[in-house]
Amino acid sequence: MLAFIGGTGLTRMENLRIIDSHTLSTRFGAPSAPIVEGELNGNKVLFLARHGDPHVLLPHQVNYRANLSALKEVGATAIVAVNAVGGITAQAPTGGLVLPDQIIDYTWGREMTLFDDPAEPLVHVDFSWPFDSALRNGLKETLAASGLKWNDGGCYAATQGPRLETAAEIARLERDGCDIVGMTGMPEAVLARELELPYAMLSLVVNPAAGKSSHEITMAEIEAVIHDGMANVCRVLADFAGSYTA
Ligand code: HPA
Repeated sequence: MLAFIGGTGLTRMENLRIIDSHTLSTRFGAPSAPIVEGELNGNKVLFLARHGDPHVLLPHQVNYRANLSALKEVGATAIVAVNAVGGITAQAPTGGLVLPDQIIDYTWGREMTLFDDPAEPLVHVDFSWPFDSALRNGLKETLAASGLKWNDGGCYAATQGPRLETAAEIARLERDGCDIVGMTGMPEAVLARELELPYAMLSLVVNPAAGKSSHEITMAEIEAVIHDGMANVCRVLADFAGSYTA
């Protein structure tokens, strides 16, 4: 079953017809919220609110291991993760969508593997291309037909948060080759890989990253973009769900 993880601004999918809600615990603890099973555009899907419902968990407080394990347990076979990000390069204008193709991880101190049992053999998963190409191709087709502003590809910088970055940090991320910056892409993406769950990310640019505009970043500015932007994301996800075949 196709699963969506909703981030900031997407705690509930208004267009989802809810069928069931799964409350469970994993060996890593409980996920951020019950996993909602529903019908979207003729297909059954799962939905998980990454920050909880209501939104209470900060990016470094999310139990990513429990979230991904629980999704797998409930029957997820592929994941599209939505996140709100800051835009660094011209590929990521505010209000636009980005389908990233790379990640650089700047987070620290998070539980970032499921394979930490000393009794089990060592596993180093390949992560050269962190996103699943079939899922990305499907999303590309949906986005191309959507009439929305979107970019195929981009490098996602995963920062620790919860504070936003300094202008110098963003300049460094840009020199590193990053196009967008968010706080939740890692370890989520690698845990999906460890579970052999195809995973792709759909990012909504909600603000110019630090130093990329002449003003400070305000929550009001971000919320204004989220309002319409996440409504667009919900439409894209519905179109994608309708065309998705496992
Ligand atoms: N930086 C990091 N995470 C974010 C941003 C940002 O500018 N905007 C939304 N999430």
